[in-house]
Amino acid sequence: MTKSRLLIDTDPGVDDALAILMAHAHADVVGLSIAAGNVGLGHTVGNALKLVDVIGAQTPVFAGCPVPLVLPAADAGFVHGVDGFGDVGYLPSARQAAAEHAANAIVRLAREHAGRLTLIALGPLTNLALALRLDPELPSRVARLVVMGGAVTGRGNTHLVPAEFNTGFDPEAAHIVFSGWPQFDLVDWEACVRHAIPFASFDRMLAAGDARAQFYAAISRKARAFNESHERAGMIIADALAMAVALEPGIVTRAERHHVGVELAGALTRGATVVDWEDRLGRPANARIVLEVEQAHFEALAAAALGAHKSDAPG
Ligand code: RIB
Ligand code: CA
Repeated sequence: MTKSRLLIDTDPGVDDALAILMAHAHADVVGLSIAAGNVGLGHTVGNALKLVDVIGAQTPVFAGCPVPLVLPAADAGFVHGVDGFGDVGYLPSARQAAAEHAANAIVRLAREHAGRLTLIALGPLTNLALALRLDPELPSRVARLVVMGGAVTGRGNTHLVPAEFNTGFDPEAAHIVFSGWPQFDLVDWEACVRHAIPFASFDRMLAAGDARAQFYAAISRKARAFNESHERAGMIIADALAMAVALEPGIVTRAERHHVGVELAGALTRGATVVDWEDRLGRPANARIVLEVEQAHFEALAAAALGAHKSDAPG
């Protein structure tokens, strides 16, 4: 079976890192376009370059926008570490990011791989929004878009309660993508909470893995402590779940198609995703909202990416 061909827009970030490991273990990755979000662009670019070195790949890394389109936003260094990778002081990569801007790279790669590319957005949608403005026909060239973002019933994870981090960090960018892309898969925060990986399973993956697991154990230590201190059922590794959906569409066991919009002005709700669950507005259903996936398959994809093959790891 031919491997998926992925272009990943990402703000690494600890959960992005596992998603990127999974992508390289199970698919062909044509590039990483980097956003600011979890931490500043300097760190997210450096983290992407370092992770590609750990994987032993030559995947091109493209730096994107350092700030959201309109208003500034706070990062998530309190979860991921100031540098986004657990502040472990890793030896930086000797490689540099490509000279091409991420938005231009997205437009170019979509043309070069027209009809065969799965685009997966794991961070704020700033780069993707710019790419869409540069090339309004972009959706027709991309086979599938998977977005990690939003909180479909308003249980977000930011100081604006209903807003999830990626749509909350750059609401205007999310609005441009959600209103300009006819059909995409949405893996929201609430689904990621439901699919937390139990700490014991997570620790087993890391213990049984290879050098990728050792690196991941180090960079995820702070995030793991954050998850434990917030009484979570396990590690919520949001981008890894979105990557599993991108890699294996059949992993989804329950989903609904509805119109999803993004609030831009609400004093309490800016950045929130608003779902027309009863389709009352008569607007086209732009999102296939992923509600449930096969947990064992998800965990097997993650384990295999860490070198800890589980019996039910896919083919
Ligand atoms: O809300 C979780 C999302 O925001 C994840 O993609 C995480 O990496 C951050 O970007
Ligand atoms: Ca992310």
